[in-house]
Amino acid sequence: MITERDKFLKSMEALIRKSGSKDTRWEGTMKDYLVLVAENPKIAQAAPARIYEMISSKGTTELLESEKLPHYEDLVRYKFFSSEIFGIDESLHDLVRFFRAGANRTETGKRILILVGPVSSGKSTIASMLRSGLELEQTPIYSIRDCPIHEEPLHLVPHSLRPEFENLLGIKIEGDLCPVCKCKLEADSQCGSEVAHYTWENMPVVRIMISERDRVGIGTFQPSDPKNQDISELIGHVDLGKITKYGEAHPLGYKFDGEIEISNRGLIEYIEILKCDIKFHYVLITVAQEQLIKAPGFPQIYIDTVIVSHTNQTEFDKFKAAKENEALHDRMYPILIPYNLRIRDEVAIYRKLTERSEFKGKVHIAPLTFETASMFAVLTRLVPSSLCPELFKKARYYDGQVIMEKEKDPVDVKKMRLEGREKAEGMSGISPRFVTNALNIALGAATEGTGCINPVDIIRALNHQFQHHIGFSDEEKSRYLELLKGEKGSALSEYRTEARREVNRVFLYAYEDQAQALFDNYMKNATAFCLKRKTIDPVTQEEQEPDEKLMRSIEEMIGISEIAKREFRQGLFVFKSDALDRGDQFSFTTYLPLQEAVEKKLMADLKNIVSLTLADKNIRDPKTLKRKEDALSKLVEKGYCPVCANNLLHFVGEMLRKEE
Ligand SMILES: Nc1ncnc2c1ncn2[C@@H]1O[C@H](COP(=O)(O)OP(=O)(O)OP(=O)(O)O)[C@@H](O)[C@H]1O
Ligand SMILES: [Mg+2]
Ligand SMILES: [Zn+2]
Ligand SMILES: [Zn+2]
Repeated sequence: MITERDKFLKSMEALIRKSGSKDTRWEGTMKDYLVLVAENPKIAQAAPARIYEMISSKGTTELLESEKLPHYEDLVRYKFFSSEIFGIDESLHDLVRFFRAGANRTETGKRILILVGPVSSGKSTIASMLRSGLELEQTPIYSIRDCPIHEEPLHLVPHSLRPEFENLLGIKIEGDLCPVCKCKLEADSQCGSEVAHYTWENMPVVRIMISERDRVGIGTFQPSDPKNQDISELIGHVDLGKITKYGEAHPLGYKFDGEIEISNRGLIEYIEILKCDIKFHYVLITVAQEQLIKAPGFPQIYIDTVIVSHTNQTEFDKFKAAKENEALHDRMYPILIPYNLRIRDEVAIYRKLTERSEFKGKVHIAPLTFETASMFAVLTRLVPSSLCPELFKKARYYDGQVIMEKEKDPVDVKKMRLEGREKAEGMSGISPRFVTNALNIALGAATEGTGCINPVDIIRALNHQFQHHIGFSDEEKSRYLELLKGEKGSALSEYRTEARREVNRVFLYAYEDQAQALFDNYMKNATAFCLKRKTIDPVTQEEQEPDEKLMRSIEEMIGISEIAKREFRQGLFVFKSDALDRGDQFSFTTYLPLQEAVEKKLMADLKNIVSLTLADKNIRDPKTLKRKEDALSKLVEKGYCPVCANNLLHFVGEMLRKEE
């Protein structure tokens, strides 16, 4: 018989299963643990290897050959980072190389990793991904139970047995017991009756979970008031409550809870390293190089952690220049984290940040908005190159939008990027944070206004943002403003070009009838020209000479010179007569060169048509009205909302009106 209780138990179990909850508890003896290691040696890997594995096991994506610079022939994109960090594949590659070196215990890997970059280039984001990556790592990790530094149980293996165990397990056993575990194992008189006596092989071992909140495996160290900050923050301190009981230099009278100690098995993030007092650096360098720390009164303690520090460019330059730091220079391993230089990746940053903001789903973001902001950000980061003097073009080259401008003498993008690297390209300029701040202001305004933002709004917000930013020199500021809204080569002028192109395209689409009309008009005149006749003006019915201006304007579109025009027109005339003789139609798509010319002319002419359509606020002519409506609905198909579509048409209309 099924009782109510059974029913409840069944439902409960189902719900628990559904929640994906997994019991991760494991407790056993050292002997049990050795069996686990024999089955899966990865559970005993050292911190750098664990981090390396954590990144590489997520997989990689291949990159195009054309994207690889010298020394980066094996460049790949690591999926571990690719949902968060965009456009700085080389830096991430350097980083993974460093962890690999650490995993292999080479000298390179024994230095302090220091991420160097301009403000808001993603340094903290990278460090935080490593931290949360460790927390989520699937490979289990174990420690001696109640060890204050949750140390690797293999430290229990007596030195005399290590070679044999290393052989058996196929791994290297490094490190020695911490003072607390050592005391428990030896149960020396000092430790007294409080501590149970263990033999090495029956010491209790537990599975641990790396957790920043629980202070297991992840430490952080940050500069604060130098007068109050002392080394105990890193290496722990005497436990005043217990010292009377145990006496000085007793393991049970000491708190091994410094940031380095808790970071054992994982990583310690050393924030703004160069703002810290130099005495802290030495402690960390010893950890990096010898994997040891010295707590007062105790023998050295073995620590297995990765030090990830970061600093901004300005501090780093100061540090490099200071003579007294020389000894430190070659103990640090700097990795440059520059700003991204690709427009599409910058767009991805703003999209990511907006997706995560309170504005998500509340504001419509018109096409080209992020692109315009990104163009601006990238422009400020680029250094001029003789290979491509115009920055906006360089930005498009880097973005892969322009592959080759001229058939002859194509710009060598790789060469340009290398030259850029030499000139520290990407190490200065406008930060994503600056742009995001402007973006947030614009988004905030939109929630109270139209509910949309467009490129003009973001340009305005960026412009405004310069009044609320400290830290740019006057020179920088005027350079940036020029790149934002200058007449030529700025984000604004590039947007103008793009906007016009966008509008042209939608009009052209709605323009087949116009194309046909233009074609007919051309044919009428060209035919008259070939037959040496006059044409009749449709309005006045007067005879007039063929419209030379109109014909030339079309022919010029496909490069037909004054000398060649007669031949072209006659060829066309023959082509048309032939077609008609055969009973074929002769429309504007029949003769390709002419079609191309007509379309190009239309594009250029569209200026007038578009102005006409756009200038008229109260369109009454049904044809014009339809044209505008078609254009609008085409824009909506492209991701504009009706408001933004109208704004775009208005923007381009104004632009054209001013040009007249
Ligand atoms: N290349 C990038 N890809 C994705 N997001 C980025 C990139 N660069 C910066 N960001 C974003 O910009 C913001 C600022 O980055 P973060 O705080 O990591 O920079 P930081 O280098 O630590 O800056 P600071 O020097 O000011 O401490 C974050 O939201 C981050 O996600
Ligand atoms: Mg930071
Ligand atoms: Zn221990
Ligand atoms: Zn909109």
